[in-house]
Parts: sequence; C-alpha cells; structure tokens
Amino acid sequence: MNDEPRTGRDLIERAPAAAAVLAGARAAGLALDGVWLVGGAVRDAVMARAAAGRDVDLAVEGAGVAFAHLLAGALGGEVIAEHLFGTATVLVDLGAELGLVHVDVATTRTETYAAPGALPTVTLDATIEQDLARRDISINAIAVSAKPDADGSHRIVDPFDGLGDIERRLVRVLHPGSFVDDPTRIVRVARYSGRLGLPVDPETRQWAVDAVAAGALQTISSDRMRAELELVLREAAWDSLTLLAAWGMLDQLDPRLEESFRLPFLIMRIDEVCGDDAQLHDRVWRMRLAALVRPLGADREGWLRWLGFPGDVIADVESHARLLDYVFEHGVALAQVANSDLYLDLGEVEDDSFAVAAIATDDEQVVARLDAYRTAIRGTRLTVRGEDVMAAGVPAGPRVGRILGTLFLQALDGELPDEAAERAELARLAEDGAA
Ligand code: CTP
Repeated sequence: MNDEPRTGRDLIERAPAAAAVLAGARAAGLALDGVWLVGGAVRDAVMARAAAGRDVDLAVEGAGVAFAHLLAGALGGEVIAEHLFGTATVLVDLGAELGLVHVDVATTRTETYAAPGALPTVTLDATIEQDLARRDISINAIAVSAKPDADGSHRIVDPFDGLGDIERRLVRVLHPGSFVDDPTRIVRVARYSGRLGLPVDPETRQWAVDAVAAGALQTISSDRMRAELELVLREAAWDSLTLLAAWGMLDQLDPRLEESFRLPFLIMRIDEVCGDDAQLHDRVWRMRLAALVRPLGADREGWLRWLGFPGDVIADVESHARLLDYVFEHGVALAQVANSDLYLDLGEVEDDSFAVAAIATDDEQVVARLDAYRTAIRGTRLTVRGEDVMAAGVPAGPRVGRILGTLFLQALDGELPDEAAERAELARLAEDGAA
C-alpha cells in the first residue's frame, strides 16, 4: 500500500489499461459524462498493486450498452457480449504492452433481492452512489469519474469509505443483509481477504458466520457455488479456505472437507511451491481442489459432479487424489514398492499428480521412487507385439493380452532390458500354460 494521498487522476494513471481506454475514448471525442471507473481497477490502483492483465470495469449512468458500442467504435474494438441488466463487454487491443483487454461496461443500477440467494431484481437508471451501494465490499465500491472536471481533476465517489478501509486494512461488506442477499459474497470476501492480505472486519466476519449458520448457502445454485469455489482455488487459496473453514462453510458443504486443514497442510504447501503463477492457474487449481476433496474418498466423484465440475477436471482431480491417498496410506514404505505394484495399484497417473504427490511428502526416497515410476511408465514400450505372441504359439484370444500385460509389468521393473530378454520371456510364458 502507498500512503501518499491519492487524487482521481493519480488513480487513473495507476491503472494503465483504464487510462489507455479513457484516453482513447477522449481522443475519439466520446462524451464521458456519467461514466465511472469502478471495481477492481480502482481498488488495485489505491493499493498500488501490480495490475498487469487487469480488465477494466466502467459504470455508466444512463445507457451502458449504447456506450459500449460507441467505445468499441472509438477504440477499434468489438462488443463481444451483451448481458442481462444493461451490461456489455468490449474487447480492445491496447497494443504490445497492455495487450487484449476486456472492458466491462455496466449501466448503473439498483438491486433488490426478492428471496435470499436469488438473482436480484434490477432497476436501471440509478445514480453512481446507488450503484455503489449494491456492491459487495467497501473497497470495491469506489468510483472515479472518467470525465475530468474543469480543473482537470477526476472526482472520487466513495460513499462507504473504501479508501479508509484500505488505510485501515479491512475487508468489510456494506450492510448486515449482504450475505443473505447474495451468499456468494461469503466466498468472495474470503477470497479478497486472502488475496489482498487484508483481515475481515469483525462485524462482517460475524455476519458471515451467522449467514452460514442460517443456511444461506443452501439458497444458491450449485453452479454459482462451483464458480466461486473455482475462483478461490485459482489463487493462493490457503488463507481464504482457512477463513471459510472457520466460518463453518466447509463443514456445511461436507464435514469431511475440514480434514484438508489438518496435517500435512497440503494446500498451504501447494500455494508455497506453485505460488499464484498465472501460467500455472489452469493446472494448479485442480491440485488444490484434489487436496480439498481428497477426504471425500469414494464420494469424491459424485460430489464434484453434483457441483457441476466438467469431466476433464474430475479426471485430473481423481488422478491427483488417488495418488495422494496412496502416498498418505503407504508413507515411507512407498519407497520400497516395485513399479509393477504401483502400476497395478494406480494404473496410469498424470504428470501433475506426481507433482502434487511430491509436495505432499517430505521423504526424499518416496519422491525419488515416484519419479522413477513416472519416468518408467512413460518410457516403457515393449518391442514384442500381439503378433509375436501368436507367432510364439498362443492362439488369438484374451491370453495374448494377459501375456503382454505380464511382460509389461516385468519391463516396468527393469527385468527385461532388451528385445532378446523380452523374446526369451515370451517364449517361456507361451510354453507355460498358466499365463
Ligand atoms: N460485485 C458485487 N457482488 C458480486 C459480484 C460482483 O458487488 N457478487 C461487484 C463488485 O463491486 C466488483 C464488481 O462487481 O468490484 C466486479 O466484479 P468482479 O469482476 O468479479 O471483481 P473485480 O472487482 O473486478 O475484482 P477481481 O476481478 O480482482 O476479483
């Protein structure tokens, strides 16, 4: 955080993508009355957080979608989506340094919740102050005017003292009913607190605990819950998940998930080893998910399916969790298990599963054993094929496959170093009616 006083102009300058979008709009002669920079770009600018790759959120008093089209025209971009509630997304290319940026343009609005957890009823034609009042936390409810005043300054609207909360280092929701209106905010608050390293305001924390205890989570769809959980897991997740555990949320999802927080603190170690490197996001979050859901055992797959995770995610998570189970079950004894036994117990295992298993164990010999297994299963190819087995006198049928399987296991254990050894063993097996 930077303790210099911030003017609106400073904040825009500190948000390079936003500054470029607004400069382009001005250069094209777009009227920017009633257009506000809001959300994460403002928050990150105040906190002087590196904001590479950050998208830009604009709130427009009046006709947001029409403004989005004008903006796309002005910047040579494209409106790639129009959503409900007067919002649209513009994709613009801001050049070599800033790259492709999404500009989310939303018409200012008020929201009321007909039932807890339901999607809100929206009324457009709101002031920026009213729009900020519908938002989740004070530090996300700061707006900076896109249009400079006569003296060149940009007005900051901060009705909930988000700037003060950044100074005081607090994540705070705007009102007591916030979590009941939208229980996904319970997860969002934990995520922002973990990401930004800002503690949660005690009152907000109590409201979160109360909302969870009152069953607020049951009022949202599994799709929305999955999306929020995924967002948590895509960042260094330990701190956020620890909060969610403390507020009783994991217990409500499934009491066994809390086991993830006992030794060996695997998620924390995944965060430490893998950081929150954007390049790894698509893979590391699946490792965190595996660590989280591992204690569900045989119910894992069904649980993931119920939340709506897609098949490829479930397959990865299962592979990781199976290997983790094996590592925890066998402990240091795993260093003595032969490749062939590992193969029989585990089958094919994905590379990332070995990475997460290596994070889960401290034992160098176990890590070396797993690594040897990984390279062995990758590298092992038999020279002999089905035709060779039949040429050795075995009639076509299941026994051909069984013999190849036996040879493969022996090769995994290094017992068949060359083709001659394979053929000799094949001849022996073909003769021996037992195989
Ligand atoms: N918002 C909200 N309640 C939600 C979702 C979003 O109030 N359940 C508001 C917040 O004010 C947020 C803005 O919508 O700042 C944009 O949401 P999003 O893009 O999810 O967050 P960012 O603020 O851009 O933050 P980040 O992308 O860094 O998570």
